[in-house]
Amino acid sequence: MSDTTEKPAGGMNRRDFLKAGLAAGGAAAFGGAAAAAENDPLITEVQDWNRYLGAGVQAAPYGVPSEHEPHVVRCDVEWLTASTESSVNFTPLHELDGIITPNGLCFERHHGGVADIAPADHRLMINGLVDTPLVFTMQNLMRFPRENRVYFLECAANSGMEWRGSQFNGCQYTHGMVHCVMYTGVPLKLLLEEAGVKANGKWLLAEGADAAAMTHSIPMEKALDDCLVAFKMNGEALRPEQGYPLRLWVPDWEGNMWGKWLRQLEVGDEPWQQREETSKYTDLLASGKARRFTWVMDPKSIITNPSPQMPITHGKGPLVISGLVWSGNGQIKRVYVSIDGGRNWKTARIDGPSFFKALHRFYLDIEWDGSPLLLQSRALDEHGFYQPTKNELRAERGENSIYHNNSVQTWHVKEDGTVENVEVS
Ligand code: CO
Repeated sequence: MSDTTEKPAGGMNRRDFLKAGLAAGGAAAFGGAAAAAENDPLITEVQDWNRYLGAGVQAAPYGVPSEHEPHVVRCDVEWLTASTESSVNFTPLHELDGIITPNGLCFERHHGGVADIAPADHRLMINGLVDTPLVFTMQNLMRFPRENRVYFLECAANSGMEWRGSQFNGCQYTHGMVHCVMYTGVPLKLLLEEAGVKANGKWLLAEGADAAAMTHSIPMEKALDDCLVAFKMNGEALRPEQGYPLRLWVPDWEGNMWGKWLRQLEVGDEPWQQREETSKYTDLLASGKARRFTWVMDPKSIITNPSPQMPITHGKGPLVISGLVWSGNGQIKRVYVSIDGGRNWKTARIDGPSFFKALHRFYLDIEWDGSPLLLQSRALDEHGFYQPTKNELRAERGENSIYHNNSVQTWHVKEDGTVENVEVS
């Protein structure tokens, strides 16, 4: 892999381009902006929004997006699952920027539908191998010291449908089971200390209050490290579909561990071997053996723009390539972008807040000459782990798996600006 810092494609760097634009008297203005037009009615005539009063306050007591943004929504894929109560939808990554996912766009994954729980009726019990079994109300939990953390959450099955070949035309579907939110909650450690974990208490069974009573074993070491019992996301109460009123946050680890509608934490001396950690959420290798307890989400990245749902519509010239990079395995050290299918790589620019255990936003600003591109991005973490190519992943894990696909994604940008999901060998 070559890490070059040469001029962007097209042979003209941003400064040269600005100069050229200025030299031409603004005719080739920056970013493709047009010279001031004398007969553009949007400029020369008073528009309705300028002529009449707009809506007053309280038109929307809880604010909603502009009516011009109806396409920015979560989407499901009907044929993927038998019913909506045990299903998934996907975050529209191609429509977002920065690192924070708006609450209403965080992907959903339910196994028994969205539980409807009034906070006053919710209880969290800690029992099992503890000195004092305890039951917490939401009001009790509000009296413990709180922390705020920005974490990514990725479903273990994110990109799972792409394992055997390119399938979905859009990063919303190939990579949209990830979101990144600021959570407010109580460190799990404080609650466990309150109950007093016995010396042989090495595992936790987290259980949800939903109709599926989702369960998952968590090693005590992780529970005492960085887990939160959280009640806010991006400053407001959890959304019902994200576990209202209480959810477990298990940073860096696969999303199914992040128990929603959290009602019980049982302390035991070994893992429980429940359904979601045996027949599901284990990774079947070519040998017929399965990897299990594969919790950490490995380094991964995806170009969100351009992408199949976000083609290039502005023609040649300045092009902002943008994407997301994250790792549950340590700090992201760098993210590379290739426009030629992985032959050459450039270091992308990471911009904005870059929190440990969060999504990071990257950009590569190029001059597009209108020729086809094979866009890829590749993450590198502090331990020297690269995102594998699809073939590297298959060579190691076979083709049975759906979980933990962190391989490099390729987008084929065509001359007309449309984009397709492809593989390069
Ligand atoms: Co796993």
